Amino acid sequence: MGSTLNVGIVGAGAIASQYLSTIRRLQAVRLVAIADLDQERARAAAEAEGVRAATVEELLAASDVDIVLNLTIPAAHAKIALQAIAAGKSVYGEKPLAANLADAKRIVEAGRAAGVRVGCAPDTVLGTGTQTARKAIDDGLLGIPLAATAVMVTPGHERWHPNPDFYYQAGGGPLLDMGPYYVSSLVTMLGPVVSVVGSASQTRQTRTIGSGPRAGEVVPVDVDTHVTGVLRHATGALSTLVMSFDAVATRASNIEVHGDKASMVVPDPNRFHGEVRLHTLGSQDWETLEPSAGFRDAARGYGLADLATTPDGAPARANGDLAVHVLDVMESLLTASATGSSVTMQTTCERPTAVPLSDAPGGVRVLV
Ligand SMILES: NC(=O)c1ccc[n+]([C@@H]2O[C@H](COP(=O)([O-])OP(=O)(O)OC[C@H]3O[C@@H](n4cnc5c(N)ncnc54)[C@H](O)[C@@H]3O)[C@@H](O)[C@H]2O)c1
Repeated sequence: MGSTLNVGIVGAGAIASQYLSTIRRLQAVRLVAIADLDQERARAAAEAEGVRAATVEELLAASDVDIVLNLTIPAAHAKIALQAIAAGKSVYGEKPLAANLADAKRIVEAGRAAGVRVGCAPDTVLGTGTQTARKAIDDGLLGIPLAATAVMVTPGHERWHPNPDFYYQAGGGPLLDMGPYYVSSLVTMLGPVVSVVGSASQTRQTRTIGSGPRAGEVVPVDVDTHVTGVLRHATGALSTLVMSFDAVATRASNIEVHGDKASMVVPDPNRFHGEVRLHTLGSQDWETLEPSAGFRDAARGYGLADLATTPDGAPARANGDLAVHVLDVMESLLTASATGSSVTMQTTCERPTAVPLSDAPGGVRVLV
């Protein structure tokens, strides 16, 4: 990959602004065009960034676009990614890589066949939070890693998102929406998963939009909204997962990892930073570890910059194989719940390489 990748964004919705502010400050990526089904939305975003608005077709055909940043809703992820790859573009997408495992595999295979890169959020796990926790495990501070718990509880995104429909359709739900952060963090720290058991429920058939122009509108729920499960990692470690759009609140840590020498509190994997706390066997209290690994000041888009600066032939950290495995874990959990049996993973992945404590991949743009 070249030193600066030209980026075309497809999907200028709620999450786009976070990527735009990162792209503005990083040298590894340069924005050239924005497209959206809603052309007015694309035009407004493009005008604010001083780049051109395009239709999706124009953007995919543009010779100056090296990589398509796919910020559409999950149901559209596969279609846009496959079209972009067919047009010879690399792709980096919001999570999940696709709304189902079969489509996600298709994307990675198409990317490989075309000789282009496939990357996927979350890149939060490249920040100092998860990376410092990973380093603590790799350095042996926990002894043998035995188990983890991962808990995400919210009464639902329809309270704040103006168009929350996709959270309750295939590709959404607490597991496919928030699970990528938690499962990616668990795989980053403890390695790939070999099998899962699970149990899930759907408590309400509709949700009511709580904000924006559609406030009061009722949307259907097609997915399980409380999902629990146990992941068996290849190392033998067991991770217990609770992902809920039904429960009100929790005082549980987002993630804890337990070894035979220490237990560790890992910060929110939906954020880049946060305190890593360690309780060593025999000590009286928790200690806070200084950040010792990960990208400083990271934000959404660092995974894209990491991909842009990864030499050809080497895997980017937020890569398609990891995203496929994470989706396999989540889909298998839902299958395990539906069938009442243990499900063996179809896929595996390498643990992405650790991030040394460092600044932005490719450096920060000097503003004049
Ligand atoms: N909103 C958040 O806080 C948040 C946080 C992290 C990740 N994400 C992820 O980001 C993605 C987008 O979420 P969002 O909240 O920005 O959604 P959104 O609904 O606000 O925006 C999605 C945009 O994509 C456009 N779009 C949909 N289908 C398209 C297609 N086929 N072609 C072109 N444009 C299309 C829509 O018109 C819309 O502007 C999702 O995968 C979500 O999981 C969102």
